[in-house]
Amino acid sequence: MQTTRSHSVDVHVTPADLRAAMERDVRAGLGAAQKWLPPVYFYDDRGSELFDTITRLPEYYLTRAERRLLEAHAKEIAQRSEAGTLVELGAGTCEKSRVLLDAFAAAGSLERYVPLDVSESTLDAAAAGLARDYAGLAVHAVVGDFHRHVGAVPTGGRRMVAFLGSTIGNLAPEERHRFLFDLDCALDAGDSLLVGTDLVKDPARLVAAYDDAQGVTAEFNRNVLRVLNRELGATFDPEAFLHVARWDAVAGQIEMRLRSTTDQVVAVEALGMALSFADGEELRTEISAKFTPGQVEEELFAAGFVVEAQWEDPEGFLLTLAAPYC
Ligand code: SAH
Ligand code: TRP
Repeated sequence: MQTTRSHSVDVHVTPADLRAAMERDVRAGLGAAQKWLPPVYFYDDRGSELFDTITRLPEYYLTRAERRLLEAHAKEIAQRSEAGTLVELGAGTCEKSRVLLDAFAAAGSLERYVPLDVSESTLDAAAAGLARDYAGLAVHAVVGDFHRHVGAVPTGGRRMVAFLGSTIGNLAPEERHRFLFDLDCALDAGDSLLVGTDLVKDPARLVAAYDDAQGVTAEFNRNVLRVLNRELGATFDPEAFLHVARWDAVAGQIEMRLRSTTDQVVAVEALGMALSFADGEELRTEISAKFTPGQVEEELFAAGFVVEAQWEDPEGFLLTLAAPYC
């Protein structure tokens, strides 16, 4: 653990770990008949900045809707959870977390904030800023993978785990179940879970949120190719791929893809791979599932949680407070 004057950082995922995982995932995903990549590699420094820009786009209603819900209900959430530790998974810049931290500070129970994220530099900067602005709060950042390191976050006292931004929707249904089940096992009686999920709505509004007029989301999607070029010596020309966002009504999810605009071969030097892309062939980079309140309740129940409260924003976003029924 590295300790500075204001906050501490535990590192469970080093750049070498990420690189090894990336090699595995690229071999499996880009070697498959239907090419795909997991979403975790979007978030290098540039990707985190682009995502931050996405959260301020007019089309991207998710962040402002979730912030409104937190502003309206954080006091009640703090009072109900009585948490001494707030754990946040995929915390990123921790910006919305400030709304929760303010409410918990007013309720007087909170002692510790534990943001967990794979993006070390973004997390470190955010943790330093919070430690400066919230005197008396212990900020204990964890650089880790929320699929693997939830068991490594500090225990002791009542904890509330926040999983915001509809990041849970970026997991496939069986991954979501596994994730929630593991989380349930890591929690004790008296702990709670706060999860933010986007809701099913008019497909035109959904697609616009993932295909904005300024092209920021397109740049974010293509950024994953730049990451592979830098980390694995790949030879992607990002401009030779078109950003595609599509609503899959049957699966209830937005799918993000990169469509090759020509017949091309891309080398991945570090892996000795030569990848052929046909003109029009698509690489799947991300899914973003959209829910109904009842579906969120069912998925939580199937993994061992009971819902204590749900709050819905008029723009179509949901916050759910749940507790393990152990
Ligand atoms: N919670 C913020 C950020 C959401 S973006 C918000 O609501 O605006 C998703 C965040 O999750 C990014 O900061 C990314 O670095 C992080 N992330 C993605 N996959 C992860 C994983 N497997 N483990 C830990 N963090 C992850
Ligand atoms: N959790 C966010 C979401 O599903 C992540 C996200 C927003 C995203 N815009 C994106 C992921 C564009 C990939 C591409 O809304």
